[in-house]
Parts: sequence; C-alpha cells; structure tokens
Amino acid sequence: MQLLGTGELEADPMGAHIDSDKCTGCRTCVEVCKFGKISIENKKAVVDEVSCYGCGDCSAACPVGAIQMRNFENEQIFAQIKAATAHKSQSPFVVAFLCNWCSYACADLTGMSRLHYPTNIRVIRTMCSARVNPEFVLEALKGGADGVLVAGCRMDECHYIHGNFDAKQRMDVLKEVIKEIGLDPKRLRTLWISAAEGERFSNTITEFVKELEEIGPIGTELRYDETGTEPGEVVQ
Ligand code: FES
Repeated sequence: MQLLGTGELEADPMGAHIDSDKCTGCRTCVEVCKFGKISIENKKAVVDEVSCYGCGDCSAACPVGAIQMRNFENEQIFAQIKAATAHKSQSPFVVAFLCNWCSYACADLTGMSRLHYPTNIRVIRTMCSARVNPEFVLEALKGGADGVLVAGCRMDECHYIHGNFDAKQRMDVLKEVIKEIGLDPKRLRTLWISAAEGERFSNTITEFVKELEEIGPIGTELRYDETGTEPGEVVQ
C-alpha cells in the first residue's frame, strides 16, 4: 500500500532487491520482468523497489541467486521447507507451493466449504507461482517430501500476467531433471486453478496422494525407468 497523504511514501516491503556483489549483469531479470522494473546500470541490475510488484519471477530466474524478495527471501522459504519436512508425520507427505491470489485462496475456500481432502500436505505460500525456484522443489524432495505440488492461477489469469507461464516452463524442465536423477517425475505435480475451484483442488490433492502411495516413499523407490525395463539402483 502506498500512503501519500502524509507527504511520505510507504511501500509494501515485498519487492525485489539485488545483491550487486553477486549480480553479473547478465540481463536475465531484465528480460523476465515484463513490468519493466529492472534495468542495467553500470553493468549491474537495478530494480525500482518502490514500484516492483513483488511476483518473484526475476528471483527464480536469476542464475546466480542475486535477487531476493522482501518477506519471501530464499532463506525464509528454505526454513519453511525444512520445518515442514522435519515434522513429516504422514506418508505420503506433500509440500505444496501455492500462489497467494488463486491457489492459496482456493485452498482456503476448500476448507471453508468443508470439502474433504487428505491432510498429507503442508502449504507454503508465495506471491506467484513464478517465485517457486526449482531449488525449492528439490530441497523439499531432498528433505523427505514424497511429492511436491506447485499451484498457481489458471493460464491467462495470473495476477502478474504471465508469471504462471514462466513457472510452468521451469517445472516442465524440472520434471526432466527429476527423471534424470532417478526419481519418478510424477512426484512433481502442477495445478493451474482459480480461487473458486474448491472441488477441483480437493480432487487433485486426493488423486495426487493416491498416486504417491502407488509410487511409494521417496528414497526407497527404484530408479525410475520409463522404458519399463528392469529397474536399476536404489536412489539414496
Ligand atoms: S499470481 Fe497466481 S500464478 Fe501468478
């Protein structure tokens, strides 16, 4: 919120900030930010922190981790992942990254509408699905989550215009990486949903948990092999 009546400007502390020591001036963030809030000055990225919308797309895209989001810093999200996986009480266990505007609101609606779904998930809220750095997903799996859900607004309905398109692209690539490291790519699921689709949210969680039960706990599964030939080594 910006308050101008007092002669002062107050900005929500949610925008991006850049560590210029880490920034290489590669321009990735400039290309990713469709709002034009990032520019290059003296070979370093500079963000207009006051007018930045805080979606976090640039932070997930930065190849050297030079961009952080106020209130949604990497460190804070990693701490939430650690807390969630450290208290894994159910199996299968799902870490769900939900965007603030649609999927998180939808989870809320699902609860308020008393729709049932398995309690095996722990939710981590981000402003947009574009904030979900692939490292967060890998960290959750490494920490013991049996599956990860990344959910955002329906395509063309992202609060930040195209954030979910970028998120989808990253998650598609990540599924290939997950397959490469020997895990079943079905452990990562994406969902693009509106705030009003409580039933769909509930059905998706139920279906995902069932699917994970069939795959088995993480860390004990046999190396994923889509060719259907004999499975190889056990993934540690
Ligand atoms: S705000 Fe929901 S996906 Fe971008």
